Amino acid sequence: MIRLNPGTFESKRQRHVIFVPSPAGSNESAPSADAEIPAEVYEAVWGAVKVPTLRNVDKRPRPTFNKSFGHNGYFDSLESVVHFYNTRDVLPYCATLKGKAEPGKNCWPVPEVADNVNTEELGKLGLTAAEEAAVVAFIRTLSDQ
Ligand code: HEM
Repeated sequence: MIRLNPGTFESKRQRHVIFVPSPAGSNESAPSADAEIPAEVYEAVWGAVKVPTLRNVDKRPRPTFNKSFGHNGYFDSLESVVHFYNTRDVLPYCATLKGKAEPGKNCWPVPEVADNVNTEELGKLGLTAAEEAAVVAFIRTLSDQ
C-alpha cells in the first residue's frame, strides 16, 4: 500500500479509490493512533491512488518485455486492467467461491482497501469482449512508437 505524501495534496490531478485487488489476498485497514500523518489528513484519501497518465502506458523497451500495471503491479496486461474495470462489481470475491477460483475469469481478489471504493464510475461497465478489446487497442495508440 502506498502511503500518500501530504506534501502532494495540492496537486490538481485527482486521486481515486478504484479498488485494485490485493496480491496478498487480504485488505488493509487505515492506521490509527501511531500514524505519522494526522488522521484528518489521511482518512479522506486512505486507499486512494493518484490517477496516472495513460501516455506511454504500454511502451516497452522490446516487444518481449514484461509489464505490470497498477500501483502494486497486480495486472500483467492492459486486457486484464480493462476487464477489471468492466467486471470488478460483477464477479464475486474469489474467497467466496466454492469451486476453483480463477482471478479475472470467475472472481476478483479482495481489495487492498474496501472502505471507500468508487462504484459510480467504474466496476460494472457492461462492455462486451469486443468492446474491451477496442478500449485496449485505443490505449495502445497512446504509446509512442
Ligand atoms: C474505461 C475507462 C478507463 C480506462 C481504460 C482506464 C485505464 C487505466 C489503466 C490502463 C491504468 C493502469 C496505468 C498504469 O499502471 O500505469 C489505470 C490506472 C488507474 N486509473 Fe484508470 N482507466 C479508466 C477509468 C478510470 C476512472 C473512471 C478512474 C477514477 C474515477 C480511474 C482511476 C485510475 C487510478 C486511480 C489508477 C491507478 C491505479 C493503481 O495504480 O493502482 N480510471 N487506468
